[in-house]
Amino acid sequence: MTQDELKALVGQAAMAYVQEGAIVGVGTGSTVDKFIDALAASGRKIAGAVSSSVRSTERMKALGIPVLEAAEVKGLKVYIDGADEIDHQGHMVKGGGAALTREKIVADLAETFVCIADESKLVPTLGKFPLPVEVIPMAAAQIARRFAAMGAEAQLRAGVVTDNGCHILDVRGLSITDPAAFEADVNQWPGVVTVGVFARNKAGVCLLGTAEGVKTLT
Ligand code: 5RP
Repeated sequence: MTQDELKALVGQAAMAYVQEGAIVGVGTGSTVDKFIDALAASGRKIAGAVSSSVRSTERMKALGIPVLEAAEVKGLKVYIDGADEIDHQGHMVKGGGAALTREKIVADLAETFVCIADESKLVPTLGKFPLPVEVIPMAAAQIARRFAAMGAEAQLRAGVVTDNGCHILDVRGLSITDPAAFEADVNQWPGVVTVGVFARNKAGVCLLGTAEGVKTLT
Protein backbone atom coordinates (compact mmCIF):
# COMPACT_ATOMS: atom_id res chain seq x y z
CA MET A 1 0.00 0.00 0.00
CA THR A 2 1.18 3.54 -0.68
CA GLN A 3 1.60 6.09 2.10
CA ASP A 4 -1.44 7.89 0.74
CA GLU A 5 -3.51 4.70 0.97
CA LEU A 6 -2.33 4.13 4.55
CA LYS A 7 -3.40 7.68 5.41
CA ALA A 8 -6.82 7.04 3.90
CA LEU A 9 -7.08 3.81 5.91
CA VAL A 10 -6.48 5.51 9.26
CA GLY A 11 -8.61 8.50 8.28
CA GLN A 12 -11.48 6.08 7.76
CA ALA A 13 -10.65 4.14 10.96
CA ALA A 14 -10.93 7.33 13.01
CA MET A 15 -14.66 7.38 12.20
CA ALA A 16 -15.04 4.77 14.99
CA TYR A 17 -14.38 7.63 17.45
CA VAL A 18 -17.00 9.99 15.99
CA GLN A 19 -20.44 9.78 17.52
CA GLU A 20 -23.59 11.12 15.90
CA GLY A 21 -24.40 14.56 17.35
CA ALA A 22 -20.95 15.05 18.92
CA ILE A 23 -18.59 17.99 18.61
CA VAL A 24 -15.24 16.75 17.29
CA GLY A 25 -11.81 18.35 17.43
CA VAL A 26 -10.12 18.22 14.04
CA GLY A 27 -6.40 18.60 13.38
CA THR A 28 -4.47 19.53 10.26
CA GLY A 29 -2.53 17.80 7.49
CA SER A 30 -2.82 15.34 4.65
CA THR A 31 -3.88 12.49 6.97
CA VAL A 32 -6.54 14.66 8.58
CA ASP A 33 -7.74 15.62 5.10
CA LYS A 34 -8.53 11.91 4.60
CA PHE A 35 -10.44 11.87 7.88
CA ILE A 36 -12.43 14.96 6.88
CA ASP A 37 -13.27 13.30 3.55
CA ALA A 38 -14.36 10.12 5.36
CA LEU A 39 -16.52 12.13 7.75
CA ALA A 40 -18.22 13.96 4.90
CA ALA A 41 -18.73 10.76 2.89
CA SER A 42 -20.17 8.89 5.90
CA GLY A 43 -23.22 11.14 6.10
CA ARG A 44 -22.89 10.98 9.91
CA LYS A 45 -24.33 14.19 11.34
CA ILE A 46 -22.14 15.82 13.96
CA ALA A 47 -23.05 18.95 15.92
CA GLY A 48 -19.87 20.54 14.67
CA ALA A 49 -16.10 20.47 14.47
CA VAL A 50 -13.55 22.63 16.25
CA SER A 51 -10.81 23.19 13.72
CA SER A 52 -7.07 23.66 14.31
CA SER A 53 -6.33 25.61 11.12
CA VAL A 54 -7.67 27.73 8.32
CA ARG A 55 -6.80 24.83 5.98
CA SER A 56 -9.02 22.31 7.80
CA THR A 57 -11.77 24.89 8.33
CA GLU A 58 -11.95 25.59 4.60
CA ARG A 59 -11.99 21.89 3.71
CA MET A 60 -14.76 21.12 6.20
CA LYS A 61 -16.90 24.08 5.19
CA ALA A 62 -16.56 23.12 1.53
CA LEU A 63 -17.84 19.64 2.42
CA GLY A 64 -20.77 20.93 4.48
CA ILE A 65 -19.33 20.09 7.92
CA PRO A 66 -20.30 22.79 10.46
CA VAL A 67 -17.30 24.46 12.13
CA LEU A 68 -17.49 25.95 15.63
CA GLU A 69 -15.13 28.37 17.38
CA ALA A 70 -13.04 26.88 20.19
CA ALA A 71 -14.49 29.51 22.53
CA GLU A 72 -17.99 28.12 21.92
CA VAL A 73 -17.24 24.72 23.49
CA LYS A 74 -16.39 23.72 27.04
CA GLY A 75 -14.83 20.42 26.11
CA LEU A 76 -14.56 17.67 23.52
CA LYS A 77 -14.63 13.90 23.78
CA VAL A 78 -12.05 13.44 21.05
CA TYR A 79 -9.47 15.34 19.07
CA ILE A 80 -8.33 13.65 15.87
CA ASP A 81 -5.02 14.66 14.34
CA GLY A 82 -1.93 13.38 12.56
CA ALA A 83 1.71 13.57 13.64
CA ASP A 84 5.15 13.94 12.15
CA GLU A 85 6.52 11.45 14.69
CA ILE A 86 5.00 9.40 17.48
CA ASP A 87 6.82 7.22 19.99
CA HIS A 88 5.55 4.09 21.74
CA GLN A 89 4.33 6.14 24.72
CA GLY A 90 2.17 8.44 22.55
CA HIS A 91 4.49 11.48 22.69
CA MET A 92 4.50 13.28 19.34
CA VAL A 93 6.31 15.80 17.22
CA LYS A 94 3.84 17.95 15.31
CA GLY A 95 3.80 21.15 13.31
CA GLY A 96 4.96 20.02 9.88
CA GLY A 97 1.91 21.89 8.59
CA ALA A 98 2.68 24.92 10.81
CA ALA A 99 -0.59 24.50 12.76
CA LEU A 100 0.95 23.33 16.06
CA THR A 101 -0.30 26.15 18.30
CA ARG A 102 -3.97 25.79 17.41
CA GLU A 103 -3.53 22.01 17.45
CA LYS A 104 -2.35 22.19 21.05
CA ILE A 105 -5.23 24.50 21.96
CA VAL A 106 -7.88 22.18 20.51
CA ALA A 107 -6.15 19.07 21.88
CA ASP A 108 -6.27 20.66 25.33
CA LEU A 109 -10.07 20.79 25.11
CA ALA A 110 -10.34 17.08 24.44
CA GLU A 111 -10.58 14.06 26.74
CA THR A 112 -8.74 11.83 24.25
CA PHE A 113 -6.22 12.62 21.52
CA VAL A 114 -6.65 10.11 18.70
CA CYS A 115 -3.53 10.18 16.54
CA ILE A 116 -3.86 8.92 12.97
CA ALA A 117 -0.59 8.12 11.23
CA ASP A 118 1.02 5.80 8.73
CA GLU A 119 3.66 3.47 10.13
CA SER A 120 6.57 5.62 8.90
CA LYS A 121 5.74 8.04 11.76
CA LEU A 122 6.40 5.54 14.58
CA VAL A 123 9.86 6.11 16.10
CA PRO A 124 11.71 4.85 19.18
CA THR A 125 12.86 8.38 20.12
CA LEU A 126 11.56 11.76 18.92
CA GLY A 127 13.89 14.11 17.09
CA LYS A 128 14.71 12.78 13.65
CA PHE A 129 11.97 14.89 12.03
CA PRO A 130 13.02 18.56 12.26
CA LEU A 131 11.19 19.90 15.31
CA PRO A 132 8.82 22.78 14.48
CA VAL A 133 8.77 25.65 16.96
CA GLU A 134 6.40 28.58 16.47
CA VAL A 135 8.09 31.81 17.54
CA ILE A 136 7.46 35.54 17.80
CA PRO A 137 9.52 36.89 14.85
CA MET A 138 11.75 39.25 16.90
CA ALA A 139 12.85 36.34 19.12
CA ALA A 140 13.80 33.92 16.31
CA ALA A 141 17.55 34.64 16.29
CA GLN A 142 17.93 34.32 20.08
CA ILE A 143 15.90 31.09 20.14
CA ALA A 144 18.08 29.71 17.34
CA ARG A 145 21.16 30.52 19.49
CA ARG A 146 19.63 28.63 22.43
CA PHE A 147 19.16 25.55 20.23
CA ALA A 148 22.73 25.91 18.91
CA ALA A 149 23.93 25.82 22.52
CA MET A 150 22.19 22.43 22.79
CA GLY A 151 24.08 21.20 19.71
CA ALA A 152 21.09 21.55 17.38
CA GLU A 153 20.47 23.72 14.35
CA ALA A 154 17.35 25.87 13.98
CA GLN A 155 16.36 27.14 10.55
CA LEU A 156 13.65 29.64 9.75
CA ARG A 157 10.94 28.06 7.56
CA ALA A 158 11.15 30.31 4.53
CA GLY A 159 8.02 32.15 3.42
CA VAL A 160 5.81 30.74 6.17
CA VAL A 161 3.62 32.91 8.38
CA THR A 162 1.36 30.91 10.67
CA ASP A 163 -2.39 31.41 11.16
CA ASN A 164 -1.32 33.40 14.25
CA GLY A 165 1.02 35.73 12.34
CA CYS A 166 4.19 34.11 13.69
CA HIS A 167 7.22 32.26 12.25
CA ILE A 168 8.37 28.65 12.39
CA LEU A 169 11.85 27.41 13.26
CA ASP A 170 12.65 23.82 12.19
CA VAL A 171 15.24 22.32 14.52
CA ARG A 172 17.55 19.53 13.40
CA GLY A 173 19.96 17.43 15.42
CA LEU A 174 17.85 16.74 18.50
CA SER A 175 17.29 13.48 20.32
CA ILE A 176 14.37 14.07 22.69
CA THR A 177 14.70 11.42 25.37
CA ASP A 178 12.48 13.15 27.95
CA PRO A 179 9.67 14.75 25.89
CA ALA A 180 7.73 16.14 28.88
CA ALA A 181 10.78 17.90 30.36
CA PHE A 182 11.86 19.17 26.94
CA GLU A 183 8.40 20.56 26.17
CA ALA A 184 8.16 22.31 29.55
CA ASP A 185 11.64 23.79 29.22
CA VAL A 186 11.51 25.11 25.64
CA ASN A 187 7.95 26.37 26.02
CA GLN A 188 9.03 28.92 28.61
CA TRP A 189 11.87 30.45 26.57
CA PRO A 190 10.96 34.08 25.81
CA GLY A 191 9.40 34.37 22.37
CA VAL A 192 8.48 30.71 21.99
CA VAL A 193 4.78 30.51 21.19
CA THR A 194 4.58 26.73 21.01
CA VAL A 195 7.11 23.94 20.78
CA GLY A 196 6.02 21.05 18.54
CA VAL A 197 6.55 18.36 21.19
CA PHE A 198 3.18 17.06 22.38
CA ALA A 199 3.95 15.31 25.66
CA ARG A 200 1.54 16.99 28.07
CA ASN A 201 -1.21 16.43 25.51
CA LYS A 202 0.04 13.14 24.15
CA ALA A 203 -1.98 10.65 22.15
CA GLY A 204 -4.29 8.43 24.18
CA VAL A 205 -4.84 6.26 21.14
CA CYS A 206 -2.80 5.89 17.96
CA LEU A 207 -4.36 4.38 14.85
CA LEU A 208 -1.33 3.29 12.89
CA GLY A 209 -1.69 2.42 9.22
CA THR A 210 0.44 -0.61 8.33
CA ALA A 211 0.67 -3.04 5.43
CA GLU A 212 -1.24 -5.51 7.65
CA GLY A 213 -4.03 -3.01 8.35
CA VAL A 214 -4.78 -0.55 11.14
CA LYS A 215 -3.02 -1.23 14.45
CA THR A 216 -4.43 0.45 17.56
CA LEU A 217 -1.74 1.50 20.02
CA THR A 218 -2.85 2.71 23.46
C1 5RP B 1 0.34 19.97 11.11
C2 5RP B 1 0.69 18.69 11.77
C3 5RP B 1 0.35 17.43 11.03
O1 5RP B 1 -0.49 16.66 11.83
C4 5RP B 1 1.63 16.68 10.75
O2 5RP B 1 2.50 17.54 10.04
C5 5RP B 1 1.35 15.43 9.92
O3 5RP B 1 0.94 15.80 8.65
P1 5RP B 1 0.58 14.73 7.53
O4 5RP B 1 -0.67 14.05 7.96
O5 5RP B 1 0.38 15.58 6.30
O6 5RP B 1 1.73 13.78 7.39
O7 5RP B 1 1.19 18.63 12.85
O8 5RP B 1 0.80 21.07 11.83
